[in-house]
Amino acid sequence: MKTVLVTGGAGFIGSHACKALAAAGVRPVAFDNLYRGHRDAVKFGPFVGGDICDPAALDHAFRTYAPDAVMHFAALAYVGESVREPATYYRNNVVGTWTLIEAMLRAGCRKFVLSSSCATYGHAIEVPIRETHPQAPINPYGFTKLAGEHMLADLAATGALDFIALRYFNASGCDPEGDIGERHDPETHVIPLILQAAADPARTFSIFGTDYDTPDGTCIRDYVHVCDLASAHVLAFDRVLSTSGAAVFNLSYGKGASVRELVSTAERVTGQSIAVREEPRRPGDPAVLVGDPTRARSLLDWTPQYPDIETHIAHAWAFNQKR
Ligand code: UFG
Repeated sequence: MKTVLVTGGAGFIGSHACKALAAAGVRPVAFDNLYRGHRDAVKFGPFVGGDICDPAALDHAFRTYAPDAVMHFAALAYVGESVREPATYYRNNVVGTWTLIEAMLRAGCRKFVLSSSCATYGHAIEVPIRETHPQAPINPYGFTKLAGEHMLADLAATGALDFIALRYFNASGCDPEGDIGERHDPETHVIPLILQAAADPARTFSIFGTDYDTPDGTCIRDYVHVCDLASAHVLAFDRVLSTSGAAVFNLSYGKGASVRELVSTAERVTGQSIAVREEPRRPGDPAVLVGDPTRARSLLDWTPQYPDIETHIAHAWAFNQKR
């Protein structure tokens, strides 16, 4: 049985990837410091407590499980927080990624799948964004992800390792079977916050910016169901094992939804009315992020199952109701 070391395996996207890997017959070893992950989300393979900035903890995990590849999800991933606390982001995301790469190479493992982000593109010059679009991040979070891509690309060019970077657009939804879901603390993501306001009439949802150059003035994002992200990781695992060098794929649907559209869809799905307050723009937010998925569809053979935003909201609502 093949084994993958999944850093951040107790987190939102990492835990869904573990479920998909296990279903595909691969053993996912979740490596997580539980800073923002949840121990009870590790259900599909062994758990190793540890921090990606700790070489000894990493060496222990590589020695114990001898993984065939690493999938690197562990990262701080709040755009707004990264603007306020850049040092924390550079330490965890950049130093942590480098520490992980060194441990992997020490252990003789040379296959890597990186959770990268559309935040590496910055303001979109052409929409939908292709992988060849210039990468000019506008927030520290995006810079940290771009740094990870550069480290891996430079090492791949020397033949030291092979990697695939998956540039996620906005992850949303959750496991339709309800085993795992989205639980951030603090919660800053738009769909969970809209659903909190739907569940509690005392709460108001804040729209950050209504003066963007978009049809309704609010930001547009390409929301990708987390199970579709997870299935792409299984395909990326197969590919990284059987190819050499570097490859980069957008994980997106090629269509976007505005913040106002999310609110109206959530009202329809939940049957609740949602109180909304219009607020100024949040620093670090580009107006539109919509990705071209052609490459992942053709080269990874990725066939997303849940492109409809209503389904994402319905799955997230069902998980929240169950909790
Ligand atoms: N938004 C609101 N109100 C809120 C929260 C968010 O209007 O209370 C808006 C944001 O301004 C943005 C959109 O909803 O326009 C999406 O915001 P999220 O915070 O849900 O997601 P981000 O786009 O900031 O970031 C997420 C992940 C990142 C990833 C990025 C890719 O957290 O890790 O998607 O776009 F890089």
